[in-house]
Amino acid sequence: MKIEVSLTPALYPFRTLTSGHVTVAIDVLRATSAVCAAFQAGCDTVVPLDTLEGISRYRSHGYLIAAERGGKKVDGAEYGNSPTEYLSNDMHGVKLAYSTTNGTISILRGADADITLVGAFANLSALCEYLKHENKDTVLLCSGWQNDFCIEDTLVAGAIIERLQGVGEAHGDAANMAQALWQMAKDSPYDYCQCCTHVHRLESFGAHADIEFAFKQDTCPVVPILRNGELTLDR
Ligand code: MLT
Repeated sequence: MKIEVSLTPALYPFRTLTSGHVTVAIDVLRATSAVCAAFQAGCDTVVPLDTLEGISRYRSHGYLIAAERGGKKVDGAEYGNSPTEYLSNDMHGVKLAYSTTNGTISILRGADADITLVGAFANLSALCEYLKHENKDTVLLCSGWQNDFCIEDTLVAGAIIERLQGVGEAHGDAANMAQALWQMAKDSPYDYCQCCTHVHRLESFGAHADIEFAFKQDTCPVVPILRNGELTLDR
């Protein structure tokens, strides 16, 4: 099992593992942490959308709108992408139409894989058990910020590679770098990421609780999987 890392969605088309693979979309701050939290709170379905255009049409099919741009909830949406907000609500039976600045773009870009999953620290153990069981080549797709690299998603990729040691091996220098970065940060990823651009952006919006939450491991033992354009859980 080879494990490759795409450091941004823009680099994903240039990966070397191009068939028979699993892709894991990672946007730890906050899109994929929030997906894990929504499912942990009982959510039924999340439809990832790369644009806001037409999102409100989902209302007539029974969906609530969850949308964020630039780190802020979009006006008129029921939810943004705050994982702590999802966890403080009962989401049972809720279907979300979900669009975020970077994370939902990654999820959709990864839809070409045999299996497309959502990853974060929140579901690290559950995700890695799933990947071990599948035992397929795996691409870890970091969302970054508007096709720029970010440290925090790369750390999640490094943590996944570490967990898969003995089953899988890092493939390519982005994966080697993710592993090395994780070794430097793993004692306190939250502290390590205090320098990160998106941490500063979110702190300026008062999203401190979400940042703390996003760096905690295994708070949401769920594995959201994309099928026919919808994220659901294997229940
Ligand atoms: C994204 O999709 O870029 C993020 O979820 C942004 C955010 O943290 O609000």
